[in-house]
Amino acid sequence: QVAESLHIINGFAQKYFAEQLWQTQEGEAVAQSYLEERGFRREISEKFQLGYSPQNRHSFVTAALQKQYNAELLVKTGLVVNRNEELLDNYRGRIIFPIHNNTGKVIGFGARVIGKAEKVPKYINTPENEIYVKSRILYGAYFARQSIDKQDECLLVEGYTDVISLHQAGIENVVASGGTSLTTDQLRIIKKYTNNLTIIYDGDSAGIKAALRGLDMALEESLNVKLVLIPDKEDPDSYVNKVGANAFREFVAEHKKDFILFQLEIMLKDAGNDVSRKNDVVNQIAETLSKINKTEDFTKQQEYIRQCSGILRIDETGLTTLVNKYK
Ligand code: GTP
Ligand code: MN
Ligand code: MN
Ligand code: MN
Ligand code: MN
Repeated sequence: QVAESLHIINGFAQKYFAEQLWQTQEGEAVAQSYLEERGFRREISEKFQLGYSPQNRHSFVTAALQKQYNAELLVKTGLVVNRNEELLDNYRGRIIFPIHNNTGKVIGFGARVIGKAEKVPKYINTPENEIYVKSRILYGAYFARQSIDKQDECLLVEGYTDVISLHQAGIENVVASGGTSLTTDQLRIIKKYTNNLTIIYDGDSAGIKAALRGLDMALEESLNVKLVLIPDKEDPDSYVNKVGANAFREFVAEHKKDFILFQLEIMLKDAGNDVSRKNDVVNQIAETLSKINKTEDFTKQQEYIRQCSGILRIDETGLTTLVNKYK
């Protein structure tokens, strides 16, 4: 009941914001030009149903109340805030990214400031409610579904704009986690579509850490995980815009690494020649290998134990024993 009303309000809001983007002077001057500057063509902005929320804090709420939508529900969607009994738009002067569920209904929004974020958050997102459950949201999944099926691979990026720019470049099997660390629910949704997950994050240390945090979880869900790190302060969006679609594809193909071996590599690099730290690495990798779902992926685990013990130059049976200790 509530869920259905929230869907209806969000649908109305999506259309409202799109109209503001494409059919008003403010939208044209402020928002269309921003999207153009970033390299989003109109066709792709329309596909993802992007919008614009005007500066005037009464614009959306006035239109919504005219449609007789219930004030309490409007607040629940996060589109409207109640400030001392005055109802105001929550998003002002922002680009609106609707977030869809797997049937294409709008369940929430991400709203980005235009230009640099000074003293305000860059993005504002829908608060948790009956239909917007952050831990289960994969931005772009609705548009990626068919392509994931066809490629039998899901690319995972961080942000809305990464998803959209890659689509524009013809890479459609891509979803975003939305900046938060991956959850088991998100991984289970991916697992329903494919066993092959390729994480494409920026190569800064925050990006690497975020990716590593997802690894053990992904292994527990029996996903084959690959990793691509985008170089030098770029993200997939900026990088594909910089080098073009073909070069981006080539980069991904050439830099796709097996995630477990990648983890081992960076841990070993960190440890250097220190014996006790190398011992920590052995324990750490044993714990990771123990997460590989044994009933489903017994051969896979064996194969990794073989490869890792080779790289570590330690005894294979010893590593096997250690792995089993962690279960
Ligand atoms: P652009 O700057 O528009 O290219 O976005 P981005 O996706 O590159 O942003 P960034 O890499 O900084 O963050 C990745 C994702 O984290 C975003 O797409 C958002 O989903 C989320 N995020 C970023 N900044 C904020 C913020 O200030 N608040 C919230 N709630 N989420 C954010
Ligand atoms: Mn979905
Ligand atoms: Mn980063
Ligand atoms: Mn980014
Ligand atoms: Mn970006």
